[in-house]
Amino acid sequence: MINWAAVPKTELHLHIEGAAPPDFIRMLAAEKNVDLSKIFNDDGSYVWKDFAEFLQTYEAACSVLQTPDDFRRLTEAVLDVSAAHGVIYTEMFLSPDFCGGGDLEAWKDYLAAMTVGAENGKAKHGIETRFISTCIRHFGPEKAVQTAKITALTAGGLLTGYGMGGEERHLHAADFSKSFEIAAEAGLGLTSHAGEICGAESVRETLDSLNVTRIGHGVRAIEDADLIARLVEEQIVLEVCPGSNIALNVYPTWGDHPIEKLRKAGVPVTVSTDDPPYFYTDMTREYRKLHETFGWGLADFQAINRTAMKAAFCDDKTRQRLMAKFE
Ligand code: HPA
Ligand code: ZN
Repeated sequence: MINWAAVPKTELHLHIEGAAPPDFIRMLAAEKNVDLSKIFNDDGSYVWKDFAEFLQTYEAACSVLQTPDDFRRLTEAVLDVSAAHGVIYTEMFLSPDFCGGGDLEAWKDYLAAMTVGAENGKAKHGIETRFISTCIRHFGPEKAVQTAKITALTAGGLLTGYGMGGEERHLHAADFSKSFEIAAEAGLGLTSHAGEICGAESVRETLDSLNVTRIGHGVRAIEDADLIARLVEEQIVLEVCPGSNIALNVYPTWGDHPIEKLRKAGVPVTVSTDDPPYFYTDMTREYRKLHETFGWGLADFQAINRTAMKAAFCDDKTRQRLMAKFE
């Protein structure tokens, strides 16, 4: 029997707010006298029934994350969980829209606080963290440009990437080109959600207009053989979150999930949790399910982790140091 929690792991796709344990959000709500009872089920889990409702509950939970110190505490709480599941390198999506509403000076304070949280997590658990600042698609292109500008002005340190999350059915990837250009000029690594809620065309549009090296999810590329060939040819890395896809009913069961077919086709795939408490998952469960469903063993996971470290938005010294843990 393999102790899956103890197997070393990398995670490239984790939303900091989406990783907030429900107890943590309830504690902040109590401290701030905010009534958030409507976003919790009787068993304490988050309420949602489809992707749109998930985004609504997510934003309601964010309403109690009000100060830089709230985000420092959140960073530490999230890293405690990641480390308990064997994660040694993590990239977290941060949203300047939830950290000071797009104001540069406020964002600097939030980023500094989350950096302290990440340093504390490293001192406590040895876990290495990098941050990917994300615009939120359904907040629109203008806010995205502002997000990219303040990200570019604060790039460096642990802030090494830029991305986009949110409602994939909103507008087209090309509407966000400007913001990705600003981030690229600042030397940030680029990734965007696509091919999760929408199909292969959304992935193609994203590759054509945003210059990303990675795609968040991207699994619905499986619907288009030409696109699969392109992902292989260009070695575009997919941040696959199988448990998230199943919880959101993108695929009905683990056996229906295309990660194994994509991997066999030569697409570089990696494994992450996305928003673990919302989707009733964690990195240990993802590995165990992939083992049970597709027979993946330790050598397969080492290869997946090498793929992740190769695509990681970190400096080469860190990359080499961590890559050695998967050889
Ligand atoms: N998809 C898109 N946007 C998100 C997600 C997701 O799974 N989680 C948080 N924001
Ligand atoms: Zn995501």
